[in-house]
Amino acid sequence: MRRLSVIVNAALASRAFYPVVWLACLTPALLLGWRVYEAFTGADPSALGVNPTETLLHMTGRDALSLLLLTLTITPIRRLTGWNRLQSIRRTLGVWSFAYALMHVTCYVVFDQLGDIAGIWDDVANRPFITMGMLAFSILLVLAGTSTNASIRWLGRRWQRLHRLVYVAAAAAVVHFVWGQKADIREPLEWAAYLAVLFAIRIGLAVRKRRRAVQAAVTP
Ligand code: HEM
Repeated sequence: MRRLSVIVNAALASRAFYPVVWLACLTPALLLGWRVYEAFTGADPSALGVNPTETLLHMTGRDALSLLLLTLTITPIRRLTGWNRLQSIRRTLGVWSFAYALMHVTCYVVFDQLGDIAGIWDDVANRPFITMGMLAFSILLVLAGTSTNASIRWLGRRWQRLHRLVYVAAAAAVVHFVWGQKADIREPLEWAAYLAVLFAIRIGLAVRKRRRAVQAAVTP
């Protein structure tokens, strides 16, 4: 484990670390862009499958959710291993998750609803799975909008409280995934189980921190 820690810490400290993370986040968008290009130019009409809108929604939705859950995985890993430099990419992953969520919602508005605002409103009000997606997206929008250094300074301690809403966004996105499935819900339930494990670890770490604080306060 010590050897692994040395290797990981060296990788995290390297100058290539941040660009590699950025490139990894960008890659799904580039691959998707390439498939869109092939489908729309006719170079490969089947690049997006028989239902391009569905393919775009599925891919961008999964990318947004994966990055969101990865963002939430950073703190538990850092706290359990001491790999503190990981924290520096948390914000980047969160903002990329929002970027994919924005692509997802844009595909829904442009290709699924053809810009019909009344139809979109009707969906948000009457289809619980879309309501959950909208809840998740609205929270991500606020969090991305307040992720700048200026916002952190301006909001002070309130910033941390506000950004705890990321857990609500993740729960809403997972419910959106489960409710959006037409038949087999096994896969979204696996994602839900992963989120539950993350919640449990976070609660465990918070309880441990509080116990230590109480102990420190009573120890002379
Ligand atoms: C206004 C907000 C949103 C709307 C209108 C929306 C709409 C949709 C639609 C129409 C689908 C396709 C369902 C189907 O027919 O199979 C979908 C799937 C999905 N969405 Fe959203 N969504 C929203 C927000 C989000 C957000 C914020 C996330 C993640 C952070 C997300 C993640 C997903 C996932 C994971 C799927 C399932 C993909 C799959 O089945 O492979 N959505 N969404």
